[in-house]
Amino acid sequence: MPEPPSLIEIVCRPLEEVDVDDRYLAWFRDPDVVRFLESRDLERAEVIAFLNAGRGKQRFIDAICMSPSGLHIGNVKIDVNWKHSTADLSILIGDKAHWGKGIASMAVRLMTEKAFLRLGIRKLTAGIYAVNLGSLRCFERAGWRLDSIQRDHLLFEGRAVDRVVMSAFNSGAWVTGAPAQWAGSR
Ligand SMILES: CC(C)(COP(=O)(O)OP(=O)(O)OC[C@H]1O[C@@H](n2cnc3c(N)ncnc32)[C@H](O)[C@@H]1OP(=O)(O)O)[C@@H](O)C(=O)NCCC(=O)NCCS
Repeated sequence: MPEPPSLIEIVCRPLEEVDVDDRYLAWFRDPDVVRFLESRDLERAEVIAFLNAGRGKQRFIDAICMSPSGLHIGNVKIDVNWKHSTADLSILIGDKAHWGKGIASMAVRLMTEKAFLRLGIRKLTAGIYAVNLGSLRCFERAGWRLDSIQRDHLLFEGRAVDRVVMSAFNSGAWVTGAPAQWAGSR
C-alpha cells in the first residue's frame, strides 16, 4: 500500500523578544524576502520596540513555527482598530526553504480564526502589491476575497503599481466590537 503523504504542521504562538536573533534579522536583509515589504535592514532594538508597541492591545504578532521541531520560520501580525472592529494582517515567511508549501495560507487561516473567535474582530484586511502573486494566492487559499483596488498606489522598482486589498468578514461578529476585557488577552 502506498505511504500516505506527510502532512506539514505548524504552530503559531506569540512572538517573544528572544525570537529576534541573528537568523530573524537576516530575513530583513534578504532581497527576495523584503521585495514587497515596507521594512528592511532592521536592527534588533527597533524590532523589539516595534514588538512591544501596543503588544496584546492593538498589535498581536505570532511566530510561525514548524511542528514538532518548533523551528521559527516567519511571522503573522494583526494591527487592530478597536473603534471600527477591524484589523490589518500581514505575513512573512522569512525562511525561504519553506515557501510554496502552503504554510503562509495555513498561518493566515489560523490568525483569521484567532482574530474572529478570540478577539471578536469584524473585518480583516491586507494590502498587497498587485505584482506579489504569491501573496495574493496565499490569501485566496486562506478563504479571503478581493475587497478593493487602489490604483497606482505603490511605487515598486521604479513604477507605480496597484495596491490590492484582500479582506475576510467575521459572520458571527459582535456588532459593537470586542468586549473590552478581551482586548488585553491572548
Ligand atoms: C508571500 C508569502 C507569504 C507566501 O508564502 P508561502 O508559504 O509560499 O505561501 P503559500 O504556499 O501558502 O501560497 C502561495 C501560493 O502562491 C503561489 N505562488 C507563489 N509564488 C508565485 C508566483 N510568483 N506567481 C504565482 N503564484 C505564486 C504558490 O504556488 C501557492 O499557490 P498554490 O498552492 O495554488 O500553488 C512568502 O513568499 C513571503 O513571506 N514572501 C515575503 C514577504 C511577503 O511578500 N509577504 C506578503 C506581504 S503582503
